Amino acid sequence: MGTHLYHHHNTPKTHHLLLKKLIIWALYTIIPLALLHLYLFPLFSPPPQPNATLSPSSSSSSASSTTTTTFTSSSSSSQAGIAELKKRPSRPRCNYSDGQWVRHSGEPRYSGTGCKTIKEGQNCMAHGRPDTGYLHWRWQPKQCAVPAFDPAAFLRLIENRHLAFIGDSMARNQLESLLCLLATAEEPELVYRDGEDNKFRRWVFRGRNATVSVLWSPFLVKGVEKSEATGQYHNNLYLESVNERWASELDGMDVVVFSVGHWYLHPAFYRENGVVLGCHHCPEFNYTEIGFFDVFRKALNTTLREVSRRHDSSPGTSEKLVVVTTFSPAHFEGEWDKAGACPKKEPYKEGEKEMEYMDAEMRKIEVEEVAAAAERGGGKGLRFEALDVTKMALMRPDGHPGPYMHPNPFANGAQERMQNDCVHWCLPGPIDSWNEILLEMMRRWKGESK
Ligand SMILES: *[C@@H]1O[C@H](CO)[C@@H](O)[C@H](O)[C@H]1NC(C)=O
Ligand SMILES: *[C@@H]1O[C@H](CO)[C@@H](O)[C@H](O)[C@H]1NC(C)=O
Ligand SMILES: *[C@@H]1O[C@H](CO)[C@@H](O)[C@H](O)[C@H]1NC(C)=O
Ligand SMILES: *[C@@H]1O[C@H](CO)[C@@H](O)[C@H](O)[C@H]1NC(C)=O
Ligand SMILES: *[C@@H]1O[C@H](CO)[C@@H](O)[C@H](O)[C@H]1NC(C)=O
Repeated sequence: MGTHLYHHHNTPKTHHLLLKKLIIWALYTIIPLALLHLYLFPLFSPPPQPNATLSPSSSSSSASSTTTTTFTSSSSSSQAGIAELKKRPSRPRCNYSDGQWVRHSGEPRYSGTGCKTIKEGQNCMAHGRPDTGYLHWRWQPKQCAVPAFDPAAFLRLIENRHLAFIGDSMARNQLESLLCLLATAEEPELVYRDGEDNKFRRWVFRGRNATVSVLWSPFLVKGVEKSEATGQYHNNLYLESVNERWASELDGMDVVVFSVGHWYLHPAFYRENGVVLGCHHCPEFNYTEIGFFDVFRKALNTTLREVSRRHDSSPGTSEKLVVVTTFSPAHFEGEWDKAGACPKKEPYKEGEKEMEYMDAEMRKIEVEEVAAAAERGGGKGLRFEALDVTKMALMRPDGHPGPYMHPNPFANGAQERMQNDCVHWCLPGPIDSWNEILLEMMRRWKGESK
């Protein structure tokens, strides 16, 4: 009876919410087509010139103009409760995500020319980006200070340990920032690489026998990536199983940083235990459009449960810190292949930019699934944390390579059509702050586990 009342009461709202979701899906199926090349060829190959069929109209600006925050508050209260429960009754923890970007006159920790491991497309300085204002901001949480990155301290924390970044090109971007930060203390030695475009790589810092690696897995769960070469335009995801390429190496990892999300925006078919649940952006097929939010939640649920399960079932395993870096919003203003797709030179001011529905939803799912995993599986030497960067990232439209994803893009004057990367981050750049917070998280972890 209660259920009936509840449903009845909520019908108009639920209906509205569904409509809203459909609109969002429609919008975000357009953007992925535009971004397809960025993500499919995230390592070196400059994406082929997209032709008219791949160029959306100004999808991201219309997305922002239709965004409201009405629906983001509806079911987020349970997560705060879980987070509270999980806290040890020591002094209150600093909420690193609650803060703002403040001007900072100091120089970046490393230079684009000094660090050898920056991928070309993110090396904005080397590619001729002329403005440097974006380098002079620091993230300042309200409740605490984030100390400047201390590479020696970081290396001590991972001495005789293995830190792995697992995910898509955002995971790789964060890893490359960390390598540059650490290289100011000691040069990493590349000891392993594999896969198309070196999607699997491992480095050792000999001084501390510290291992840092990156493993490609844009869904975390089992999946077959779409590929234009084979005419497969949809990803295929198997939501009940994790991707063994990384999972089989879990035992040897002490700190795991998962970072995924953007690949979930792409057209896909979703299966669970042999049943097709539906698809995303598949009008030519006879499947139900189910969007990607619920699927994303399932994939994280599967992933974090499996990490716990394997941790608990492997007797000799040491303690492990599992971090999920939350969704990092893109900043396209209009078409991705038009000049000035992310032209801002400064962060947004507080209150200037609302988080869009999709970004907020992806973040919420991640934060909630991490809280649920901590609640289920913590306490046996396994710790889950969300590295909640969504707001930090949202406020930094100035930190992307934009046209400088290619070297000297204006060498022949401004062109009408130019490809822009408004998703990944310049190195050095805002993403270095993710790793400053990661260091604090690891300090807290080691401090508390002593
Ligand atoms: C875009 O590519 C499609 C598929 O290869 C092709 O059919 C179409 O003619 C192209 N359009 C333009 C404007 O080049
Ligand atoms: C941390 O601050 C952010 C931004 O104000 C907020 O959304 C989030 O809920 C806070 N997290 C916790 C655990 O209180
Ligand atoms: C070096 O680090 C690895 C973990 O990455 C560890 O398994 C190994 O035992 C360490 N070697 C020594 C000599 O401590
Ligand atoms: C599409 O699916 C529906 C429901 O499963 C089914 O009734 C219908 O026959 C299918 N249409 C085609 C063309 O396969
Ligand atoms: C997570 O997975 C478990 C076990 O497979 C399932 O019982 C639970 O309902 C799932 N939760 C969500 C939110 O999908």
